[in-house]
Amino acid sequence: MSEPLEIRCRENGPYVIKGPVRIVDHLGNAFPIPPGKETVALCRCGHSKNRPFCDGSHKTCGFQAAEIAPNPAS
Ligand code: FES
Repeated sequence: MSEPLEIRCRENGPYVIKGPVRIVDHLGNAFPIPPGKETVALCRCGHSKNRPFCDGSHKTCGFQAAEIAPNPAS
């Protein structure tokens, strides 16, 4: 069984996906991802001009998100 895909929530930034991934629109059409690119950052601030991908706009729009997952030890 393969490892689950990990999506990292960057503090005040995008969702970062590492590894082979296919991103599709609501019709099922794939967005082009450059060959060999191993990390994809998806916008979650809503301000990117290249959605669904992050273009760095979160740094200037005041986006804040710093969710912390529950600690499994507690
Ligand atoms: S999260 Fe980076 S532009 Fe939206």
